[in-house]
Amino acid sequence: MSQEINFIIRNADENDIPEVMEVNLRTLPENYWYGFYKFVLERWGDIFLVAEMDKKIIGYIMNRVEDARDPVLYGKENELIKEKKRSIEDIMSSFKNMFSESHKVGHVISIAVLPEYRKKGIGTALLNEAINRMKNNYGTEAVYLEVRVSNKEAISLYKKMGFEEVRIIKEYYRNGEDAYVMVKKL
Ligand code: ACO
Ligand code: ZN
Repeated sequence: MSQEINFIIRNADENDIPEVMEVNLRTLPENYWYGFYKFVLERWGDIFLVAEMDKKIIGYIMNRVEDARDPVLYGKENELIKEKKRSIEDIMSSFKNMFSESHKVGHVISIAVLPEYRKKGIGTALLNEAINRMKNNYGTEAVYLEVRVSNKEAISLYKKMGFEEVRIIKEYYRNGEDAYVMVKKL
């Protein structure tokens, strides 16, 4: 289980972007340019969070809010995970009922914690706070994300937080790896 560690979760600001980029470059093959971070921060700053310890950024989560009709949530029939068809149909039909502009979903763009600070509850804390804010500040009815099918640690974190795999996107990543789309209804 998690061991005690002193970290705080706070809003990112523009001065944090270089350090956030460093965490991202050290932890993930999906990297973004400075202007992308700046855009996301300006638009959804209240749900762009960092984990800080001794003035050092050791993790981040960046999110955006989208309309529920985002096509990534539906995809092609043959991409649905067969053994989960029933629960997927439940989730999908509830999304389909959201076909109006007032229905918002949160999208976790990226979350990461530096390797030396993992398994201490920081990822959970970042995701928890972001989900609460997406719900309270934007009224999102669900949160979704894409994750490499091989990313055991992240998938296990998401499942623990109540996310379910609803789709596979074939060859989503640059190296040809597939992605799961995982959804948590709020
Ligand atoms: N093995 C198995 N399960 C793990 C592991 C691991 N090494 N690490 C975390 N988990 C799961 C466990 O279920 C754990 O619960 P437990 O502590 O009760 O066993 C749960 O995740 C929560 O762990 P935390 O300590 O809160 O998570 P952590 O701070 O370690 O961060 C994260 C998890 C963000 C996935 C981290 O491993 C990381 O930065 N990985 C590299 C970057 C990455 O893959 N990001 C996600 C990409 S997908 C996306 O961004 C949408
Ligand atoms: Zn995404």
